Amino acid sequence: MEGGWEGTGDPLPTSPRRVRGRGGADQAAGAETQARRPSARPGPPALSAAPSHLERGQPGVSARGRPRRPTLAVRRPAHTPRSALALPRGRGRSASGSSWPSPRASLIPTSESCRVLTFLPGLSRVMALRAGDHSQVAMNGLKEKVLTLDTMNPCVRRVEYAVRGPIVLRALELEQELRQGVKKPFTEVIRANIGDAQAMGQKPITFLRQVLALCVHPDLLNSPDFPEDAKRKAERILQACGGHSLGAYSVSSGIQLIREDVASYIERRDGGIPADPNNIYLSTGASDAILTVLKLLVAGEGPTRTGVLIPIPQYPLYSAALAELNAVQVDYYLDEERAWALDVAELRRALCQARDHCCPRALCIINPGNPTGQVQARECIEAVIRFAFEERLFLMADEVYQDNVYAEGSQFHSFKKVLTEMGPPYATQQELASFHSVSKGYMGECGFRGGYVEVVNLDAAVQQQMQKLLSVRLCPPVPGQVLLSMVVSPPAPSDPSFAQFQAERQAVLAELAAKAKLTEQVFNEAPGIRCNPVQGAMYSFPRVQLPPRAVQRAQELGLAPDMFFCMRLLEETGICVVPGSGFGQREGTYHFRMTILPPMEKLRPLLEKLSQFHAKFTREYS
Ligand SMILES: Cc1ncc(COP(=O)(O)O)c(C=O)c1O
Repeated sequence: MEGGWEGTGDPLPTSPRRVRGRGGADQAAGAETQARRPSARPGPPALSAAPSHLERGQPGVSARGRPRRPTLAVRRPAHTPRSALALPRGRGRSASGSSWPSPRASLIPTSESCRVLTFLPGLSRVMALRAGDHSQVAMNGLKEKVLTLDTMNPCVRRVEYAVRGPIVLRALELEQELRQGVKKPFTEVIRANIGDAQAMGQKPITFLRQVLALCVHPDLLNSPDFPEDAKRKAERILQACGGHSLGAYSVSSGIQLIREDVASYIERRDGGIPADPNNIYLSTGASDAILTVLKLLVAGEGPTRTGVLIPIPQYPLYSAALAELNAVQVDYYLDEERAWALDVAELRRALCQARDHCCPRALCIINPGNPTGQVQARECIEAVIRFAFEERLFLMADEVYQDNVYAEGSQFHSFKKVLTEMGPPYATQQELASFHSVSKGYMGECGFRGGYVEVVNLDAAVQQQMQKLLSVRLCPPVPGQVLLSMVVSPPAPSDPSFAQFQAERQAVLAELAAKAKLTEQVFNEAPGIRCNPVQGAMYSFPRVQLPPRAVQRAQELGLAPDMFFCMRLLEETGICVVPGSGFGQREGTYHFRMTILPPMEKLRPLLEKLSQFHAKFTREYS
């Protein structure tokens, strides 16, 4: 039965709306054309009040207990940033002439969709504030702001990041409402939307924090409460810091000693293949390093603009960074039927198609995969390297989940190792940047923002330019560098901290492995849900069947069907997951991404609740 906002009904009242579509591969080019034609943009949006909260029977008060502002209907605000919640933005065409979905999804608010905006509290508030600005300008005769949505950087407007998108804003509101005693069909919001292990209760590894504490507050070096090896590590690091303090800037590429530690780690990891500390740059998480390398790659105009091949489904840092840099996103699809395998024929298809309108220069690989959880076989990596070499593509290997491999028979192989072992000309010529982070693995230290990139076969002059670019931002956070140093040089077997470190590390990884298995198992028992094995990383990306009536209903509401499903799931169960449309998926398929991070005692009930909700949702719309 379709009904009201709360309980089991639709989250939204019926609201016919327009959805704009545009070609997938041409998308960025099209958007640029639009952005460069200021005259094509409409003026300030026309506004009208639409008391939709009251219409749908919500109390007319905000979560803070204040009266709600009436929701504003906005006409033709084509300049309003797209959100990652709604219908896929049309199709591109494959080399074979078939059509592909856009990996991005969007909601273009129109007058018809004004009520949809009330569904997205954050977005509707922004719209309301804009409306307030305009009326104030009119009333007070104030000058219009220099920086408005119309005049700001259009590339920034195009950026979308589903992992922290509207569904998460709504989750935050629900949490606040629960704290205020508002009755809900659940008692807590479970955030299974983001790969933030410690936020889900994972304990920090003791040794990492001990060394960090000692470095931050060296007086503790006199305390008997810290093991000797932690003290030795801390003293060694402090010696390498300016003024022996973590409060000093480091050199821009990161503390030399830690770069050397990273090089030794890579050598150990890769079975003795040498790594040069001068090719290693510490970063503010892997994100920062990925953005830096993309910045070096992006050039050209029109058909010579840099194209970057990214997997679909993808981790939306890539689409966001490419939008920000005004590069062309070139999608290659992972094969869901083969456990999200990467197929070189598909890479070739994507490349050939892209060459019609841009200059593809880089190929990004995420291994182990986010959101798809696959771990690439060595032969596949070799094939990708050969392809990149033949097609003159710069390789970007995102290897932040290198410690997160669970499936029997799966093993992490670094691109650097495989490349080197393939010998010349690959080993000596193929350009590669590989990324790692302290945010994932067994440590989950996302908040410290530590990471690094190793570059291989990079042109020496470009490397100097990279050094220059990094120096503008002074340095990555020094506490993050210290954490990285612990990750790459943990206690040795002879050290007093070894046993505890090893036990804690193993416990985290063993629990993640068990949760990966459980997730796959419970989802695959549910009719209408199909989940590939979670071989690695921290996510499942199950495919859900949505009945045609639910899809139609979502379309009427101006939402991507999987966003509709996920929003209803959140409203009715408190489970927060991210719709597949935020990562990209084949047209007509629907997914969501759920982390495997909730504690074991919560994970099974959560998986069961989610499966039951899917069954109920299916019945409701059948
Ligand atoms: C595939 C992938 N790359 C990069 C990152 C960014 O990690 P960091 O926290 O190191 O910036 C993430 C974070 O979730 C990720 O999943």
